Amino acid sequence: MKLREASALKQGEGAFNLSNYEEVSKQFSWDTIHPQFSWHRTNKVNMAYECIDRHVEDGYGEKIALIYMNGHFKETHTFSNLKKKTDEWGYLLKSQGVKKGDRVFVFLPKHPDCYIAVLAAIKIGAIVGPLFEAFMEEAIFDRMYDCEASVLITNEELLQRVPVSKLPHLQSIYITDNIEHPIAKSIPKLVEEVSVNGEIVEWVDLNDGMIIHYTSGSTGKPKGVLHAHRVMIQQYQTGQWVLDLKEDDVYWCTAHPGWVTGSSYGIFAPWLNRATIVVHGGRFDAKEWFEVLERTGVTVWYSAPTAFRLLMDKSDLIPDYSFSLRHILSVGEPLNPEVITWGVEKLNLQIHDTWWMTETGAQLIVNLPSAKIKPGSMGRPIPGIKAAIIDEEGNTVHPYELGLLAIKKGWPSMMKEIWKNEEKYHSYFVGDWYISGDLAYMDEEGYIFFQGRNDDMINSSGERIGPFEVESKLIEHQAVLEAAVIGKPDRVRGEIVKAFIVLAEGYEETEELKKEIQTFVRNKLSAHAMPREIEILRELPKTQISGKILRRALREDKDVDRGTDTVDGGTGPTSVA
Ligand code: WTA
Repeated sequence: MKLREASALKQGEGAFNLSNYEEVSKQFSWDTIHPQFSWHRTNKVNMAYECIDRHVEDGYGEKIALIYMNGHFKETHTFSNLKKKTDEWGYLLKSQGVKKGDRVFVFLPKHPDCYIAVLAAIKIGAIVGPLFEAFMEEAIFDRMYDCEASVLITNEELLQRVPVSKLPHLQSIYITDNIEHPIAKSIPKLVEEVSVNGEIVEWVDLNDGMIIHYTSGSTGKPKGVLHAHRVMIQQYQTGQWVLDLKEDDVYWCTAHPGWVTGSSYGIFAPWLNRATIVVHGGRFDAKEWFEVLERTGVTVWYSAPTAFRLLMDKSDLIPDYSFSLRHILSVGEPLNPEVITWGVEKLNLQIHDTWWMTETGAQLIVNLPSAKIKPGSMGRPIPGIKAAIIDEEGNTVHPYELGLLAIKKGWPSMMKEIWKNEEKYHSYFVGDWYISGDLAYMDEEGYIFFQGRNDDMINSSGERIGPFEVESKLIEHQAVLEAAVIGKPDRVRGEIVKAFIVLAEGYEETEELKKEIQTFVRNKLSAHAMPREIEILRELPKTQISGKILRRALREDKDVDRGTDTVDGGTGPTSVA
């Protein structure tokens, strides 16, 4: 297929409706997207160039690239402005010796500086590691230590949580506030001192490392999922097909760039498509979110079921606002039909579910804007993706039969590697199939229905939480002898983290102790890893042979030894907001 035909597939030109989805899927090849990128002609690759500089060169420098809102504060940045800033910050890093492939970590709140820092690092060929702003000391340490980060960009406040003295590879720290700091250099000050010259963009190979996101599995510590610049091919195309981005759209992805949704679809997909993005600072607040939607004129909105469910509870506020929304999408956790119905009734739009993972780099299974939605289904594979439901041996199962959701290897945004862990990388594959770890079934029209996980991974508010990390943290507390952690179904959050604990000798179950243990996990790891419920048991159910904790039995509430003398019958939740 030639360029002309590739662009003929664009959304809005009639190519992507249900009637020809099968047809397009049959003939589509990712190579046909390549001519849309400058590197196809020049052989010079860089994601930051494609997201920003290219638009300035094409005459869109004055277009608004970013609208930032925090409370009533609003600020905008044009593509020219972002080019200037990423050039300055990039030059600064380069002039201080940061090289291609170095790991530059960005620990900043949802603020324009975070977006500038991420793209500046990518521009000079570094591998950027964005960190979620709510991470605490040990979550930060695990990530930065594992991939030997040499540079950190943060602010004065967040720097307090970084265990600098325990990070031997860390050579320089830059803070985005213009203040004196004993160990960090202030970017604003340094930028005033340097005058940018020479080419800032480091031209790389499509397969060179670009961004690393740590993600949880059911065992061990979080793994570093490394993505290469080539992710842009699929992010760009799904930005058109799935997000349906058009020239005048104002697009809001609510995720922080520390999560893959916040980078793939919070930065890259929209900017590759030259859309205006909205960045909202601060915590979730229903009223503020409705205000963001109204005041920035969001037309395309990408969020998660937990957020929608929280907004559902505040539906009575909606009539006070006037929205410009035309397309809504969801990701990260099962989208219940109830939420779709709410969208139709209150926002006059169907919410489109999308499925993918940190490892997959971009959307794979989706509800295309023009296709029929089957509530309860995540949709169908985008063209260029082959998905199947298989058994443990790799054989495809029949329609409606439960099995492993698997994807045929070889899509452009597939992870490059798991950082320093080849074995883990290979463990994802059975033959030609990438095994997602999700359980699902497919109907005869190819729609896929999520049914749960094949392992113990917890999904709370769309965030992946490894039970092992939380259990390891819990047993560091002196009152905890043994711990097992599961996901417990929850109406709003999908699942909550629930911990079963056997107390060490000399400790009594009290509400204060449970609260203390919760705070311990929250302060060391992060708020989302904190068990919202703690139940004290006499003993944990274990396998007889290996003595492994049976999380499944706890989930199903089988063989659970509550003893006879627990304070509240062992079922009293201790919920900390
Ligand atoms: C889950 C987020 C149901 C799934 C982009 C997957 C979903 C994990 C959906 C990846 C969905 C993601 N419906 N479950 N539409 N999307 N998941 O790596 O279990 O943070 O394996 O990537 O979230 O989470 P991750």
